[in-house]
Order: sequence, then C-alpha cells, then structure tokens
Amino acid sequence: MSNILCIGAGYVGGPTMAMIAKFCPEHKIMVVDINQDRIDSWNSDNLPIYEPGLLEVVQEARGRNLFFHSDVAEATRDADIIFVSVNTPTKMFGKGAGKAADLQFWEKTARDILANCRKREVIVVEKSTLPVRTAEAMAKILQSGKGSTHFSVVSNPEFLAEGTAIEDLTTPDRVLIGGEQNKHGRKAVEIVAELYAHWVPRERLLLTSVWSSELSKLVANAMLAQRISSVNSISALCERTEADITEVSKAIGMDTRIGSKFLEAGIGFGGSCFRKDILHLSYLCEYYGLPEVADYWGSVVRINEWQIDRFFQNILREQFSTLAGKTISLLGFAFKQDTGDTRDSPAIPLCEKLLGEHANVRVHDPKALENAKLDLKEMQGDITFFEDVYEATEGSHALALVTQWNEYRELDYERIFKMMAKPAFIFDGRNHLDHEKLFEIGFNVCPLGKSPLKYI
Ligand code: UDX
Repeated sequence: MSNILCIGAGYVGGPTMAMIAKFCPEHKIMVVDINQDRIDSWNSDNLPIYEPGLLEVVQEARGRNLFFHSDVAEATRDADIIFVSVNTPTKMFGKGAGKAADLQFWEKTARDILANCRKREVIVVEKSTLPVRTAEAMAKILQSGKGSTHFSVVSNPEFLAEGTAIEDLTTPDRVLIGGEQNKHGRKAVEIVAELYAHWVPRERLLLTSVWSSELSKLVANAMLAQRISSVNSISALCERTEADITEVSKAIGMDTRIGSKFLEAGIGFGGSCFRKDILHLSYLCEYYGLPEVADYWGSVVRINEWQIDRFFQNILREQFSTLAGKTISLLGFAFKQDTGDTRDSPAIPLCEKLLGEHANVRVHDPKALENAKLDLKEMQGDITFFEDVYEATEGSHALALVTQWNEYRELDYERIFKMMAKPAFIFDGRNHLDHEKLFEIGFNVCPLGKSPLKYI
C-alpha cells in the first residue's frame, strides 16, 4: 500500500486521481490544493468542474481511499508518490513573454516537496504539460536538499480531453510514462506503470525516456491542433469556391492514412492546452536555433486567430457592415460541449470584436455562464447573460453558435424565429445545426466552409 498525493485539484488532477482511487483501492490517494473553496467543492456533491460521469466515480471512492485536503505540507510528509498537476500558464513577462511556460508554480511546488517530505524514497510524477527538460530542472531542485530522501522524477502526461475525461481515463489510447535511464529511474517507472496496470492493458503502457515523454505530449497537442487549423484554412477556400467543407472532411478522412477525427471545421480551437502547448513548442524550437520549425508551428495558432476573426467579419458583413445597437445572441460560451471550461474559448475574442462594433451581446451557455461572467468582467459594453435560451434570443438580430452543445440542436427554432428581429440570421460556427430546416423556417443561414442559405 502506498500513500499517493496529487498537488493540484483541477481538470486533470481531480479526475485522474478519482480514477486511480477507484481502480486501486489498496492505495490511499490524497488530493490537495491551496484553494480551500475548490477543496470544499470536491468534498461536496457540487464538484468544482462539470465532467459527465465524474461525480459517480468520486462518490464511489471518496472517504474510502480518496481524500481532498488543503494542507499541502502535511499531506506531503507521508507521500510515497507525488503527482504534480499544478497549472503552467503561458509566461506573460520577461524572456519568452507570451510564449514560454510560466514555471513559477511548478518550481515552488518542487521546493515545497523538498521542504516537507519525510519518506526515504519518493517518486515525483509530472502530470502538467511542461516544456521539455523541466523534469531535469525539477530533479536538480529536489536533489539540492540535505535530507535523506531519494527522489525519482517521472513524466506521465495526461491525454484526457474535457467532457470525455472519464471515458478517456477508462480506456486510454496509451499511457505514457517517461523515466530516467538508470536503475532508480526504471524502478520508479515500473511503480507508476503498476498503478495503471490495474485497469489499462500492459501493451498500452508506453515506457520511454523523460524527454521523449515530455515532448510527445506537446507534439500530440500540436498535431491535433494542426489538423483543425488545416481544415479551417480549407473552409475559407470552400466558401470562395462553393465546395462544402463537410464533404471535403469526410472525403479526406476516409483515407485510413489520414483518419476521420479532428477534421471538423469550426470557429477555432480553444481550451487550456492547444494554444499554450503550441506556443511552448514554437518557443523551444526558437531557443534551440530552429526558427523555420518555430514558424511552422506558430502558423497553426495564427490560422486559428484568423478563423475567429473571419467568423466575426462574416457577421459584420452580413449585418450590412453595421452592428451598432444590434443584438447578437451567442449560443454557447464554453470552448467545447460538455464542459463549463471557457479557457481560451473563441467566444472571448468574438465578444470583444462584437462589443468593439457597439453590438449588444447576449450570452447563453448551459454550464459556462459563471466562467463567462469572469472572462468578460473587464470588457466595456452592453453584455447580458441568460439562463433561458429563449429569453436570450428574443428580439435579437442574429444568433452566433459558438459551442456544439447537443441541446442547441433540439431548440424550437420556429418559436425563436418568430421572436427575432427580421431579417433573422444564424451564424453556425460549428456547422452543428440542420441548415436546410432553419432556412425553411425563414432564417438566413451562414455556416462555415459552405455556401450560405439566404433570402436576401
Ligand atoms: C486537448 C487534447 O485532445 C487532450 O488530449 C489534451 O490532454 C488536452 O487538450 P481538450 O482541450 O479538452 O483536449 O479538448 P479537445 O476535444 O481536444 O478540443 C479542443 C478544441 O478543438 C475545442 O475547442 C474543440 O471544439 C476544437 N475542435 C476539435 C475542432 O474545432 N474541430 C475538431 O475536429 C475537433
């Protein structure tokens, strides 16, 4: 039996530890966070993050072998394995500002571990996505102490996607565990692998060096985002040539060498990982003297920003080049469906652009309204938030669908159409709705990457 500690009770730490606790009942799992409110939520049935199926997993293990606590120092004392899942936002100052990872929380955590742990052998597992060679820096800090503890640093990046975290954790494509290439390192990797082997088939446990593991995580996210930017760039060409991006995506995705996933055109990718990780990757390439490679990956982010702007420009153009005093209702604010997370959501720059044109912006989202309020707090202009989607759309000139929530497919669009100002427009930023049907109802429909259906 081991004492397993996770520092950081966020979108990765919380769900991952709940799963380890569920499948490894012989181990005691403690999840800590300096934010007392967040810990209180984890200890209630109103969890701090919305994730389908998570509450059931937490309820099964909580109080048995899964505990949430805010005393980081005390929990560190008895830990044998410490997962570090603190956030590594993009650095906003000094060298690498706007690109490099801000590692201050990470380094502080390393020093806290060093100051508090009492066991002879401790394995520190990096769970946050970090620039390559951070494990090395972590190991140096940990080894700088005078104590008798021996530390092994293991990289075990998380590949779960929000909204499907429980499914992704239950049947992962692979679990990547990178360790130092020596006796201690190999033993540490084996111990971490043994945890996952409780429910993940051995052939899906991929054991590598620390640096391969760290880099693989950055590259996996960069490649996924690159597919989206590729398809989004082609959506612009489709609009000029009357090709249909859905047909093109389907046609190319049926080539088994390409594969069908992550080829959906949209307003642009968001979320806490893609943009941040590509910027890290690009910065690393620059740092190591590879400007062409840095520029190649940087273009994935540039196309994403351009796509959001293209969506906005389309709204402006179709609204006869004036949005002043007009009401635009956003359907969705989260960066994707089935999550309340709004980090890096394309809805944020979209709102800023709409407000810049003096539009009245209304926001509806089934799970992300509170986060949306925080994101837009500093923005000047007329913004209102609605829990009822019908109230949000009453009297508005256009609807802009940002998030592909299922419930937006099932709305009573006849009722919405009757209540809207005419001509009524709908801009489908995810090609999520039934465009023919909306057109029949009377909407002017502007999808992405295909011809609009318009009366005017
Ligand atoms: C991503 C990675 O998928 C995951 O492996 C990693 O651990 C964290 O980052 P996440 O950000 O939670 O996960 O969501 P994901 O499903 O990857 O979607 C990211 C963004 O891309 C969303 O805004 C989504 O709407 C968009 N997207 C996705 C598209 O625009 N088109 C697609 O075809 C797929």
